[in-house]
Amino acid sequence: MGKTIGRIITTMDTPTPTEVAFVTHEEMVDKNQYVEFDTTQGRVIGIIKDMVKANKYFDQPESVSQLSRIGEEVSNRFPTKEWEYTVGKVRSLGVYNGEIVKRPTKPPAPGEQVREPDNDTLKTFLNFKEDGMKIGELEHHGTEVKLGVTEVFQKHLAVLAQTGAGKTHTVSVLIEELLSRTKEEGRPAAVVMDLHGEYAGFADTNEYRNKVKVVKGENYKIPVSSLGVSDFSLFLPGMSKAQERELSHAIAMLKREGNPYAIQDIINQILSDKEMNEKLQGALVSWLGHLDSEMFSETGSSVSELVKPGKLSIVDMSKMIKQKEKQVLVSYISERLFTKRRNREIPPFILFLEEAHNFAKESGESETRMAKNIVETIAREGRKFGASLCLISQRPMKLSTTALSQCSTQVVMRITNPHDLQHIGKTSEGIDEASLDTLTTLQVGEAMVTGSAVRNPVFLKIRQRISSERDLGKDLEVQAKEYEEELERKSKDAEAFM
Ligand SMILES: Nc1ncnc2c1ncn2[C@@H]1O[C@H](COP(=O)(O)OP(=O)(O)O)[C@@H](O)[C@H]1O
Ligand SMILES: [Mg+2]
Repeated sequence: MGKTIGRIITTMDTPTPTEVAFVTHEEMVDKNQYVEFDTTQGRVIGIIKDMVKANKYFDQPESVSQLSRIGEEVSNRFPTKEWEYTVGKVRSLGVYNGEIVKRPTKPPAPGEQVREPDNDTLKTFLNFKEDGMKIGELEHHGTEVKLGVTEVFQKHLAVLAQTGAGKTHTVSVLIEELLSRTKEEGRPAAVVMDLHGEYAGFADTNEYRNKVKVVKGENYKIPVSSLGVSDFSLFLPGMSKAQERELSHAIAMLKREGNPYAIQDIINQILSDKEMNEKLQGALVSWLGHLDSEMFSETGSSVSELVKPGKLSIVDMSKMIKQKEKQVLVSYISERLFTKRRNREIPPFILFLEEAHNFAKESGESETRMAKNIVETIAREGRKFGASLCLISQRPMKLSTTALSQCSTQVVMRITNPHDLQHIGKTSEGIDEASLDTLTTLQVGEAMVTGSAVRNPVFLKIRQRISSERDLGKDLEVQAKEYEEELERKSKDAEAFM
């Protein structure tokens, strides 16, 4: 039995089967803390949704006002402190007798004790898994939060918060947990599309070094010889049906020759077709010319190299400058991973997509939304094949509603933008107003988990990471100083050289 922290009282409209108030003292409780009490149905677990303080010496405005008028402190005349108390307002979450959880349908009796549930109760009630991922501690309780890999990832995860709230940190912690799993425990492959080169620290950490592969986005070559017309229409949104038909014809001709070929070969093939409508020919050649040939090569890299059980591949896109190239790369890798997994050619994987709102964009020009379709397809169908997504975004508003609503677990950290808050409230069922309100007050590293990984929204502090953090966000002063020092060093070197 947990420690007693208060007693249930009657108010105008409580206790009911779901709303309960109890008297306690401020130092014993916190908002969002879990409590338990007994009812005729068994033990009920609830959460403190709000707290109110009361004191009878201050409930008569006229006497408070009168005393202050004559310059007298109420607390000098009366033992006010001793009469202060706190009322905790609890929402009942479920009747819980060790295993079965059901909705409470009867109120508790006034006068019943309210207790602090012990760790084991909380773990099982909230659906934590013994062999799960240790990502942090439950706020106000210190209980270790261990979430199941299947529960978190199978039906996709969204990590949402404003910049600097701790998204990348949280995702790094999740990846650390994945990399620590044994074969027996089941270990999916992880691929992270790292827009700012923030994950490379994994390769600098002893624990993970031999489980990590870093691929430079700017060196990644898309193999032209293995691309079909559907790939080209992915990269070149807006191609007409007639253009697709001619392109398909040209590719078939090249395939018949049996040699690897590049974009330029396709262009030459089209130009050599004397029967093709000239306008169509010109348009098609110009479309293909748009594809930056640096990114494409005859044979290129295989995405299968990116996915190995229990290992992490980091696609470091920080040196890629062109938006369009990033779109092409994300679309291509996502599409190939999904198709290959559907054909059972590669292990189950989790694809972590940073800046997801830039790739699965709800609206905007088609060129900026190249990856939207494939991301939405994985979101809808991936769970059947063991193809999971983790969408990471600081602008949930801009993220495809289809993709976001398929993410059945969400880790939400500090968010203050009211539009983003509203959007999150709409897309995830488990979040109530009070929880949304709490999101605005979270500190860096504090998070709320909702959805299929937990029985009830859970607030926690994300643990420290083991992998080293890439120091990218140095202070402006430091950057400015380093720049000038670098200049001086260079000019000294130059002088010495002369
Ligand atoms: N749980 C945490 N514990 C300690 N430091 C954290 C935690 N979460 C984030 N931080 C720190 O806060 C800063 C911003 O975190 P980051 O994950 O980069 O935010 P985001 O990706 O949301 O912009 C980083 O320096 C990081 O080390
Ligand atoms: Mg980040």
